[in-house]
Order: sequence, then structure tokens, then C-alpha cells
Amino acid sequence: MRSIQIEKFGGPEVLVIKDIDIGKLGTKEVLIKNKSIGLNFIDVYHRTGLYPIPLPSGIGLEASGVIEKIGSEVKLFKVGDRVTHASMPIGAYSEKQIMPEEKLISIPDGVSDEVASCITLKGITAEYLLHRAYPLKKGDKVLYHAAAGALGQILCPWANSLGAEVIGTVGSKAKEEIAKKWLSPCN
Ligand SMILES: NC(=O)c1ccc[n+]([C@@H]2O[C@H](COP(=O)([O-])OP(=O)(O)OC[C@H]3O[C@@H](n4cnc5c(N)ncnc54)[C@H](OP(=O)(O)O)[C@@H]3O)[C@@H](O)[C@H]2O)c1
Repeated sequence: MRSIQIEKFGGPEVLVIKDIDIGKLGTKEVLIKNKSIGLNFIDVYHRTGLYPIPLPSGIGLEASGVIEKIGSEVKLFKVGDRVTHASMPIGAYSEKQIMPEEKLISIPDGVSDEVASCITLKGITAEYLLHRAYPLKKGDKVLYHAAAGALGQILCPWANSLGAEVIGTVGSKAKEEIAKKWLSPCN
């Protein structure tokens, strides 16, 4: 299968399309045909070596697609299921990918592959911040920097929906207009 690989750290020119052997499916793993791939800033850190990874390596941490094969002990998913994921192992910039079933999230009907693949990492980040790092309660106050940013546009309305008072900061007038859609009234 074709996959974008890096053999050395550097600029965008180190990204090379290669034909690679995808390897053997483990018993608790699934083979996914990727339909859409999410691009994240961390991919740049992997490419430049700021976050060192063993080379050669695939690249990309987020994708959505359809399950083509399942390992013998996979319990939660079946062939044909639409799934999304946003964590290790690296290698989302590929036609296909093997992932452990425990790393997968089902894509609900009505959510496109494109939306799923660009929202999963931000969604799981917002979820752990709002529900696990600190379980947000009705009436809590939240100060969110960069409220018009990618994460802010998911986390702020989510915090609002939990009944928190959300106060945001932004760096420009244009961003203020975006952020105001997601903040509590008058903030
Ligand atoms: N996106 C993800 O999936 C994800 C996952 C995990 C963690 N994170 C972390 O969450 C944060 C926001 O990510 P994002 O994806 O929402 O980024 P983003 O859309 O690129 O937004 C970044 C914004 O942060 C503000 N900013 C930049 N430098 C700043 C500084 N020195 N002090 C205060 N604000 C500054 C700027 O907005 P203003 O001009 O409005 O201030 C900038 O547009 C980052 O720290 C990122 O590493 C993101």
C-alpha cells in the first residue's frame, strides 16, 4: 500500500510516497482503509524532529475510514464499520492502517469521514479537559485563551452546554466575532 514516509527529519521535502508492506494483523487489531486524514501541528514536530521518532517512519496521527479486516480477538468492531482515531501508532498519511481496536471510536451516522478526521483529536482533548482533568460543573467559570482557535471552537460551546460561564480571550477583532458565537453571553 502507498504511505507517506520520512527517512530523515527536515522540511516538507522529506515527506515521500512509498509502497510499503503493511505488516501482519494482530489478534486485537483491525485493518482500516482510510477515507480522510487529519493534519495536526504535531505532525510538523514529528517531521522536523522536534519530537524525535524512530526513522524511517510513517507520519500522521488522525484519520477516519472503514474497517476491512479484524483480528481474531476483536470484540467491539466488525468489517464495514466506520471508525475514527487520533493517537499512536503514527502512520495516518497512508491508504490503509493497522490500529488496535482499543484506540477506535465509531463514527455516528450523519457525521462525515472528513468531519470525523478533523475533529477527533480536538474532541478527545476537550473531553479530558472538561470531564477528567477537572469535571466541570454548572456555574463554574472557565477562562479560555485563544477562544477562536481550533480547540476553543469545540471546548467553549461544550463548556457552555455543561452550564459553565465561559470567558474567552482572542487576538483580533475578527477572532472576537468567531469566539462570541461560542462564549457565554456578554463575555
Ligand atoms: N488542536 C488539537 O487537537 C490540540 C490537541 C491537544 C492540545 N492542543 C493544544 O491546545 C492549544 C490550542 O490549540 P489549537 O489547535 O486550538 O491552536 P490554534 O487554532 O492554532 O490556535 C492558536 C492560537 O493561540 C493563540 N496564541 C498564540 N500564541 C499565544 C501566546 N503566546 N499566548 C496566548 N495565546 C497565544 C493565538 O490566538 P489569539 O490570536 O486569539 O490569541 C493563536 O491563533 C495549543 O497549546 C495546542 O498545543 C491542541
